[in-house]
Amino acid sequence: MSGHRKLASSGNKALSKAKSAKQDEFYTQLVDIENELKHYRAQLKNRVVLCNCDDPYESNFFRYFALNFNALGVKRLIATSYAGSNVAGGLLPLTEIEGLKPEGREPYAIEINEVPDVNNDGAIDLADVEWLLRNDKNSCRTLAGDGEYGAGDFRSIQCVEYLKQADVVVTNPPFSLFREYVAQLVEFKKSFLIIESKNAATYKEIFKLIREDKLWLGRGFSAGNAFFAIPSDQRREFAHGVYNEQTGLVKFRNVGWFTNMDHEGRHEEIPLFRAYSENDYPRYDNYDAVEVSKIADIPANFEGAMGVPITFLDRYNPKQFEILGITDRDNNSGLKTREYTALETPNAGDLNRRAAIRMPEGLKSTYARLLIKRRNVP
Ligand SMILES: C[S@@+](CC[C@H](N)C(=O)[O-])C[C@H]1O[C@@H](n2cnc3c(N)ncnc32)[C@H](O)[C@@H]1O
Repeated sequence: MSGHRKLASSGNKALSKAKSAKQDEFYTQLVDIENELKHYRAQLKNRVVLCNCDDPYESNFFRYFALNFNALGVKRLIATSYAGSNVAGGLLPLTEIEGLKPEGREPYAIEINEVPDVNNDGAIDLADVEWLLRNDKNSCRTLAGDGEYGAGDFRSIQCVEYLKQADVVVTNPPFSLFREYVAQLVEFKKSFLIIESKNAATYKEIFKLIREDKLWLGRGFSAGNAFFAIPSDQRREFAHGVYNEQTGLVKFRNVGWFTNMDHEGRHEEIPLFRAYSENDYPRYDNYDAVEVSKIADIPANFEGAMGVPITFLDRYNPKQFEILGITDRDNNSGLKTREYTALETPNAGDLNRRAAIRMPEGLKSTYARLLIKRRNVP
C-alpha cells in the first residue's frame, strides 16, 4: 500500500471513529468555504442565509458571510451556536457582545441585516461586524432549550423558527446527526450546502434523495482532501499522520459538500471514449448489470445498467445518466438493495448483496457500486 493510501484509510477510520464516539467537533477552513461558495453566488443574492450548528466565535462560515455580506448581496445572516466554543484561539475573538450576558458563553443567535461602515474607517469589513455586535444589542440573543432539545440544538423550537426564516442553510453540521439534519432541511424545503463524509451517499435516506435528484454533491474540496481544525483535547485520538502538529488540522479524504443548489459541474458531461465489449465488461452474477470499475471506462455505446464506484457522484450529470440503485456495502447502514433496484436477482444473500462477478476460481464481490444507465445513448 502506498504512503498516500495508508494516510487516506487512517483518515477514514478517524472519521468513522468520530461518528461512533459522536465527536462532532471539526471546524471548516475559510479557504474551503470560499472555494465552494464561489459557485453559488447568484443563488445567495437577496437571500436569508442561516449558519446553524455554528458558533460565530469560532466559525469560518460566519466569518465568510460577514466578510462578504455586501459583496454577495445577502439579505440577512443568521448564525446560531450550540455550545460554548472549545476551539482554542477563536477566529472572531469578541470579548463582549452587546445583548448577551457578560458571563455569556451560552448558546446564542446572531442576526445581521446590514453591514454599514459603522466604525467610519472608510472600509466595510469584519471590524464593522465586530463593532456592530459589540454595540447593537438587537443583533444578538441568547438561546434557550425547550424541554426536549437543548439551547442551540438545530431541532429546538427557537432554532426551527430561525430555519423557517432562512432561504439557504450553509454549514458543517454534526456528522453523527446527519440523517436527521438533512431530513429537517428537506421537510422545510430549504436550499442547503453542507459538509459530510461522502459515505453518507450510501445511507438509505440520503441515497433515496440522490436517486430522486433532490440532493447531489457540490464541487468538492481541492485535491479531494479536506482538512479541519479540531479542539486541542482531541488531538491524541487520531492515528499517526492524520493530525498535523504544524497546521493543527486533521485530514479526511472522503468528505464532500452535499447540496440541492445547482452548480455548473452538474451540467458537464463525462467524456466517454470506450466502446463496449462483452469481454471487457463482465456481467454481475447477481445483478442485471455490467461491472465498470473506473469512471473513465464507462462505455459510450452501452444501453444497459452498469455498476460504477461511488466516486461517480462527483461527476454525475442527471441529463447524461440515470441512477437506478446501489449495491450494499455491508457496512451496517441498513441499506436493503431490494428496495432500491429492480435489477437484483435472488439468492445473493451470502454475498451481502454486493455485486459479484463469476471468476474461474469462484465469485468475486466488488466494493459498493452505483447502478447507473446512460440516457439517450446515441
Ligand atoms: C462538524 S462541527 C462544525 C462546526 C462549524 N459549523 C464549522 O464547520 O466550523 C459541528 C458542530 O455542530 C455542533 N452540534 C453538535 N450537535 C448539535 C445539535 N444537536 N444541534 C446543533 N449543533 C450541534 C457541534 O458542537 C459542532 O460545533
